[in-house]
Amino acid sequence: MRALVIANWKMNPPTFREARGLFEATRKAAERSRGVTLVVAPPVIFLRPLSALYKGKRIAFALQGGHWEKAGAQTGEISMAQAQDARASYIIVGHSESRARGETNEDTRKKVAAALALKLTPILCVGERQRDQGGAHFTIVSEQLRAVFGELTATQAARVIVAYEPIWAIGGEESMSPRDMHEMAIFIRKSIVDLLGQGSMSVKIIYGGAATEENATAMLAGGDVVGLLVGHVSVDSKRFAALLSAISKSVV
Ligand code: PGA
Repeated sequence: MRALVIANWKMNPPTFREARGLFEATRKAAERSRGVTLVVAPPVIFLRPLSALYKGKRIAFALQGGHWEKAGAQTGEISMAQAQDARASYIIVGHSESRARGETNEDTRKKVAAALALKLTPILCVGERQRDQGGAHFTIVSEQLRAVFGELTATQAARVIVAYEPIWAIGGEESMSPRDMHEMAIFIRKSIVDLLGQGSMSVKIIYGGAATEENATAMLAGGDVVGLLVGHVSVDSKRFAALLSAISKSVV
């Protein structure tokens, strides 16, 4: 089985020169890593120049966020069609950092619908800010899922990738345990099946939050996930190459 790795560069690096260098190193690492499907999500200003430079097939591009409207008076925004024109084929929706800036569940619903209409693959991020004994994290995740999947058909749902990202793990070095991820994956699948029926059992789930070269293979082996959403490690070319290589050795 191929592993899906999304390199979420967030707002890095500062210059195009560095972005080109990082992309070049990432490309080389990806070419050595059989069994891995790699998606790079650069800052949008670097999307077109990087995708224009790239002639291969191993790497796909993602938009980190975009507006659901096709065009119009939306200062500071970018439309999904514009990103698609720059060769993005995936879009990250509902990332906790976007939610912290005001993206609501209703916004994620509109974004996923707009992405699907354009045949972009939405990567829907869900996850709780903190965990307590009361299990409130399950309620939060189920609301985030319901907002989007409650409005989709099972066929549409099959095209959405769910990225579970516990916010408390993001940016650190320690991911959630694969065992806890496994439990959450079962919960996510059950929540979607409850909304859409058995046909949506095969929804793709990935994990994000301190995914590193140290923990990647254990998470893929034990977390019941098909891939990883990688933040800070994806902008460190040596660490990211080590992560891809570790995954590649474990999947092929
Ligand atoms: P991290 O970020 O890998 O730096 O924890 C993941 C994410 O926020 O998508």
